Amino acid sequence: MAFWKKHEKVETNVILMLVLTLITVSIGGLIEIVPLYTIQNTIERVEGVRPYSPLELAGRNIYIREGCYNCHSQQVRPFRDELERYGHYSLAAESMYDHPFQWGSKRTGPDLARVGGKYSNDWHAAHMIDPRAVVPESIMPAYPFLAERVLDFSDAPEHLKTLRVVGVPYSDEMIEASVEDFEAQASNDADWDGLLARYPKAATGDFDGDPTRLTEMDALIAYMQILGRMVDFAEVDPADLKQ
Ligand code: HEC
Repeated sequence: MAFWKKHEKVETNVILMLVLTLITVSIGGLIEIVPLYTIQNTIERVEGVRPYSPLELAGRNIYIREGCYNCHSQQVRPFRDELERYGHYSLAAESMYDHPFQWGSKRTGPDLARVGGKYSNDWHAAHMIDPRAVVPESIMPAYPFLAERVLDFSDAPEHLKTLRVVGVPYSDEMIEASVEDFEAQASNDADWDGLLARYPKAATGDFDGDPTRLTEMDALIAYMQILGRMVDFAEVDPADLKQ
């Protein structure tokens, strides 16, 4: 029987066609899916990426609570205009400890993935309190209340433990020191050695201009200042990065 005659059987029998289609699709599916079970991680590790310090984490929680992601993305795409404006495109590893990630889908304001170190703490505080004071044409809402709200993060260990459940590598030591690290990071006269050993490159000192108390503004600025700074791109060879 000629091949097309045999094929006619498949084309005229819906059930047979369905069964054969399912078999074909399953083989393709298995080939794609099974290898993923044999590797630990689909994200290539990049030197420098670390979990957020407790203060940065508290700031991130405020960022989410206030819905900053509605206007700001945190993902530099690999297009020339974005690279020139924001810097190196975002790596998957840079948001591997973000639960949930803050890539966002809207840019009413600029991308914030690399905003860390771009401005001083004072600039951020002034901008949050009244965006128009530093960027006259800004349409960003003002968040002056953040500077008034004293931040209680005594449940920091619980936050870290919860993130550990979903795979963020917080060590027992980090969890134990979390409240201490939280307070030390925003203090002007603390000993930061332990904090910086656990969380390299963390910005330290008072952030909101009022060293007498630790406010939500301190935490949010500490978070802004680490964004995009964990990976040292001078050390990264683009050829090594498979995107
Ligand atoms: C309604 C939209 C909107 C919301 C919500 C919003 N922003 Fe903005 N943001 C903007 C716009 C527009 C700009 C650009 C003008 C300016 O600098 O104020 C901006 C600028 C910024 C900048 C300066 C970025 C740069 O590279 O110059 C930072 C930092 C920032 N926003 C942080 C935040 C944070 C943190 C929140 C949440 C507490 C937030 N924004 C909420 C619209 C918004």
